[in-house]
Amino acid sequence: MVIERLSTGVKGLDEIINGGIPRGFTVAVVGEPGTGKTVFCIHFISSGLSKGEKGIYVTTEESRESIIKQAQLFGFDFNSDLEKGNLIIIDALMGEKSDPWSLRDIEIEELLSKIIEARRLLGKGHVRLVIDSMSAFWLDKPAMARKYSYMVKRILSKWDMTIVLTSQYAVTTSLGFGFGIEHVADGILRFRKTVIGGVLKRFLVVEKMRQTDHDKRVFEIDIVNGKGIVIIGPYK
Ligand SMILES: Nc1ncnc2c1ncn2[C@@H]1O[C@H](COP(=O)(O)OP(=O)(O)OP(=O)(O)O)[C@@H](O)[C@H]1O
Ligand SMILES: [Mg+2]
Repeated sequence: MVIERLSTGVKGLDEIINGGIPRGFTVAVVGEPGTGKTVFCIHFISSGLSKGEKGIYVTTEESRESIIKQAQLFGFDFNSDLEKGNLIIIDALMGEKSDPWSLRDIEIEELLSKIIEARRLLGKGHVRLVIDSMSAFWLDKPAMARKYSYMVKRILSKWDMTIVLTSQYAVTTSLGFGFGIEHVADGILRFRKTVIGGVLKRFLVVEKMRQTDHDKRVFEIDIVNGKGIVIIGPYK
């Protein structure tokens, strides 16, 4: 059986995962602050939009405007896709009453119903969904991480969507607070950072990708103005 795979939008990453993310998967993108999770999500959504797919981007730690600006710096024009109705950005940070695509409360039930409303509006065809981040939903109840991740996967994957969920790892321990998303997810992309020789270096390793003979090496990456994530090569 041939597995249909979706491009991540990051040059060189699809080869590392045998051609891309299998359609319908739920992939966890995990890492400490500033490691590139949001930048990856922007690539993933943009890649779908450039192929005529539609996108839903839920942002919890940055405003919709911040995501649009960040995308613009890498050459992606989210405003035009928002106008065309191919993209819906659900802003869970600002919570403005007049904004139909915002969340009043950071609650899992509200998140799911808002995403389904957006999904219905986007109509037929495959949709890429990003929830950046899931951690916001279990901030004060880390024991719920596994259950919430499971709910998202079970309920939303019926809607012909491929899903990227980001999860934050603590600066202090390099571990997620609340565990479980890693087990529920079909794939894990682990972003890392460390200072070597007085310079901040970034890394990416595929920790899991079901149904995929993926590369096991750690890759050094960079985030470059005008481009986004650039894969430098395997870390030696
Ligand atoms: N235009 C740009 N040019 C070069 N690097 C940039 C540019 N914009 C952002 N970056 C880099 O990307 C980093 C932010 O990455 P990103 O927002 O993806 O982190 P994150 O993993 O989502 O972190 P958090 O958990 O805090 O949300 C910045 O700290 C900066 O180093
Ligand atoms: Mg982020």
